Amino acid sequence: MNVRDSEAVEALLVANGHMSAAREDDADIVIVNSCSVRGKAEDKALGKLGLLCATKRDRPGRVVGLMGCMAQRLGADIFRKIPKLDFSVGTRQCGAIPRLVARAISGETNICEIASPDTPPDVPDAHGESGFSAFVTILLGCNRRCAYCIVPDVRGPEFSRPATEVVAEITELARHGIREVTLLGQSVMRYGIANAAWADGTVSPNGFTEPFPRLLEAVAAIPGIIRIRFTSGHPSGCTEELVRAMRLFPNICRHLHLPVQSGSDRILNRMRRGYTRADYLAAAHRLRGGMPGFALTTDVIVGFPGETVEDFEHTRTLMDEADFDNAFIFKYSPRPGTPAAAMKDDVPGEEKMRRNQVLLADQDVRGEAANQRLVGTVQEVLVEGPSLRNEERWAGRSPGNKIVIFDPPAGLQPGTVVGVHITRTAPQTLYGECVP
Ligand code: 5AD
Ligand code: SF4
Repeated sequence: MNVRDSEAVEALLVANGHMSAAREDDADIVIVNSCSVRGKAEDKALGKLGLLCATKRDRPGRVVGLMGCMAQRLGADIFRKIPKLDFSVGTRQCGAIPRLVARAISGETNICEIASPDTPPDVPDAHGESGFSAFVTILLGCNRRCAYCIVPDVRGPEFSRPATEVVAEITELARHGIREVTLLGQSVMRYGIANAAWADGTVSPNGFTEPFPRLLEAVAAIPGIIRIRFTSGHPSGCTEELVRAMRLFPNICRHLHLPVQSGSDRILNRMRRGYTRADYLAAAHRLRGGMPGFALTTDVIVGFPGETVEDFEHTRTLMDEADFDNAFIFKYSPRPGTPAAAMKDDVPGEEKMRRNQVLLADQDVRGEAANQRLVGTVQEVLVEGPSLRNEERWAGRSPGNKIVIFDPPAGLQPGTVVGVHITRTAPQTLYGECVP
């Protein structure tokens, strides 16, 4: 999501007469897009801002700005930590950045443009010019209140963009050569639930009634879009209608990132996730049931307050049962103002580290087995172009989002789909031969 916001801001600045710099050192304007989800991410952003502001000694005209969740969370306090910062802009005001840059260039400093996160968002629809794949934000903010999570505080309540706006943006992207879109939202299947996204009286050609499957149906019909992804999921959104849409439209990838966070009902309840282990597994089963080769990836937090060794072992067994293709494991990090911040952070750092490593080692074995199952299959690969390591071999991505390396047949064009017969694998990478 931050990658998408950064790209939109870059495109906005270019539209306002600025130029992209190839290297950070060359840039006269540097904006740090920050994340607040874990303390470590904020520490990194602060360190980076400190270094950037130090370069202003030799380059007095350089503009340094901050955007993203940390800007929203800290407000004007950021200028006490980073006195030389020129501007800080909130999560729902990215569109203001060109104006803030202009003010900073004319000598103003410590400009703070941060509104309450429930102000109506200013959603930039600008995109860069590169590649075949684009991110499209469809849902901002989040109305869930998972106990550990800072997102509702810094990104505000849910706001679904009107479906006509989303479809217009993707149609325009397709006209410029984009072949793959990833629809973004914190809890993406809640699209159109908190606020209406469809005009009254519009009907779905295939009889869908839920707003998110309807959006998928509309996007799937856009000429030139050969791949559709969406992230992140929540088990409550894995409805029969969603599965029907995913089965009906061949351009929807059979992959979902469905964060589970824990396999213990006691911890899920303390986390306020709104589902049980059984609910999660039922959702996974529904998705996999009708879609052979479906790829499921997840996020897990270890060391949430009160997580015992027994709770942790429940997470291990859940991960085996769900048989994830990939998993991101995070150590719990208390975030100020969240409900969990009031609970005792009682799992020692070393034990969090141990649980983290155990899950990573388990997942390595599972990921390797998942890759092995793909050997001998033919994967539909969206061709990106020459691989970074070896120009003679080309790279693309499978529907399950794995990198696939192959020898390109003569005349192969980036942005097309080829069948690749998989012959061997490495972690996160598949190798194979093109088939006609
Ligand atoms: N501590 C650790 N991990 C967190 N995540 C969100 N909040 C926290 C936190 N306070 C993780 C969740 C989420 C991912 C984006 O970050 O696993 O799915
Ligand atoms: Fe945070 Fe939960 Fe919303 Fe995800 S669903 S952004 S974890 S509050």
